[in-house]
Amino acid sequence: MAESFQKVSGNKHEQYNIILPQLLALIQAEPDCIATLANITAVLKEQFEHLWIGFYLVKDNQLLLGPFQGPLACTRIDYGKGVCGACWQQQRSIIVDDVAQFPGHIACSSLSRSEIVVPILKDNKVVAVLDIDSIDIAKFDAIDQQFLEMLAHQLSVLF
Ligand code: SME
Repeated sequence: MAESFQKVSGNKHEQYNIILPQLLALIQAEPDCIATLANITAVLKEQFEHLWIGFYLVKDNQLLLGPFQGPLACTRIDYGKGVCGACWQQQRSIIVDDVAQFPGHIACSSLSRSEIVVPILKDNKVVAVLDIDSIDIAKFDAIDQQFLEMLAHQLSVLF
């Protein structure tokens, strides 16, 4: 892919359909994990104007902050803690409509109101999670989950 990205229009499903090939091209173009994850966050942040989007990578039995776009974030999350740690533990995507209602939610930004976390699995083990935060309540739905899980599946080749 050319090293530029232009925001696309359409409903959410259409937007995902248009940018998916560009994201897959980024994955195919660069085998380095950090470099590619960084560009993935840039494209998704620009397209959807998320409050925060980033990856936490499993390292030394913790989730360690990886490439992200948005406000300062906590650097380490323990297994089972917060939404990210729960996603790691349960090996499944978690959508939180209202973070105030999620027991143990880790608030990196007081502006965050809803969240989606999707695991990246390699050999049936979680190697990273993709975390997205929104300033809106109930921002994320099954369309986001379906697309982001498809993306996470493709991203596993980087690990
Ligand atoms: N809210 C997350 C922590 C990471 S930040 O949102 C960037 C959680 O509860 O795991």
